Amino acid sequence: MCRPVGRSGLLGSIHAEPRALPVISAVGLSKSYGSTRAVDELSFEVRSGVVTGFLGPNGSGKSTTMRMVMGLDRPTAGSVTINGVGYHDLRWPLREVGALLEAKAVHPGRSAYAHLLSLAQTNAIPRSRVDDVLAMVGLEGVSRRKAGKFSLGMSQRLGIASALLGDPGVLLFDEPINGLDPEGILWVRNLLKSLAAEGRTVFVSSHLMSEMAQTATDLVVIGRGRLISDTSVENFIASNTESTVLVRTPETERLQGVLAAAGLRVAPGADGGLVVTGATAVQVGEAAHAASVMLHELSPQQASLEEVFMDMTSDMVDYHGLTPDAPVDGAPAGAPSGAGAEVGR
Ligand SMILES: Nc1ncnc2c1ncn2[C@@H]1O[C@H](COP(=O)(O)OP(=O)(O)OP(=O)(O)O)[C@@H](O)[C@H]1O
Ligand SMILES: [Mg+2]
Repeated sequence: MCRPVGRSGLLGSIHAEPRALPVISAVGLSKSYGSTRAVDELSFEVRSGVVTGFLGPNGSGKSTTMRMVMGLDRPTAGSVTINGVGYHDLRWPLREVGALLEAKAVHPGRSAYAHLLSLAQTNAIPRSRVDDVLAMVGLEGVSRRKAGKFSLGMSQRLGIASALLGDPGVLLFDEPINGLDPEGILWVRNLLKSLAAEGRTVFVSSHLMSEMAQTATDLVVIGRGRLISDTSVENFIASNTESTVLVRTPETERLQGVLAAAGLRVAPGADGGLVVTGATAVQVGEAAHAASVMLHELSPQQASLEEVFMDMTSDMVDYHGLTPDAPVDGAPAGAPSGAGAEVGR
């Protein structure tokens, strides 16, 4: 399979020749900071052509992993490569891998244009590409303003422009939708999908599960630096939940008896419905039909990515907030709440 030449779908390509399919490959990747094991023997692969979501609770090692991919942190053990090559061995790094890691990591006194131009000049990227990417992220009107005065959302857009500057085949985005307005979130979703559809490798972290569910095809899920799952979104949900069917009828009690007699696990659901676990809609519908029970609703239920993620990582969450007036684990109501309460470390 070959990546389309010229990938002209977005803004054209600065590469004349097709390149091998890009892939990120981590093997036994580990990173310790003193006694903190930030990344712990992580092995995974990120393939091209789809968006891969990188999920994990706060402090689970996502940013550290991305920094190691980008050669910004040296692994304590193991390795990570891009197309089989370490970041430092890439000839023109910006043209191979683009990344948005820290949106605010820009010289504050430099304009957005000057920032991008300096990146372009050190990687033999044509000046015209700076205007292209500024237009692409919607910052052309403020390109001469100091980047240090940008809002978070504007900084994110500038970070995305930097990542796209070299028209790279591999793209990493660490929480790219942080601070973006609804239009910006939709734009990023479509951008990531179209970059992947052009054959690129797109690796993106986010805590917004609803967004990830709509954007990603594959997932790498970690907890406390360790791999929890490396599969498709579809498979992650399906293999970690039992299928259920919601059924409604004017004859609830009778249907409950009919389904139980058919050997199905049935329990009362919300608003007078019944929830059947471990059965398909076909099985439930046929059992009801055989007993001449009229149905008003018969709908297979799917757990959300958020529900499955919370379930899979529940014992790996290090930082818990408290909800006012709803004591957790015996804590008094009104105790300090919010991020930053460190538990179990
Ligand atoms: N430069 C550093 N020095 C010391 N410890 C670090 C450093 N960078 C990260 N850590 C620690 O490594 C662990 C993983 O942090 P990391 O930022 O990679 O997590 P994350 O998954 O990106 O979290 P978040 O979702 O909050 O962004 C944390 O315990 C963090 O405190
Ligand atoms: Mg992070």
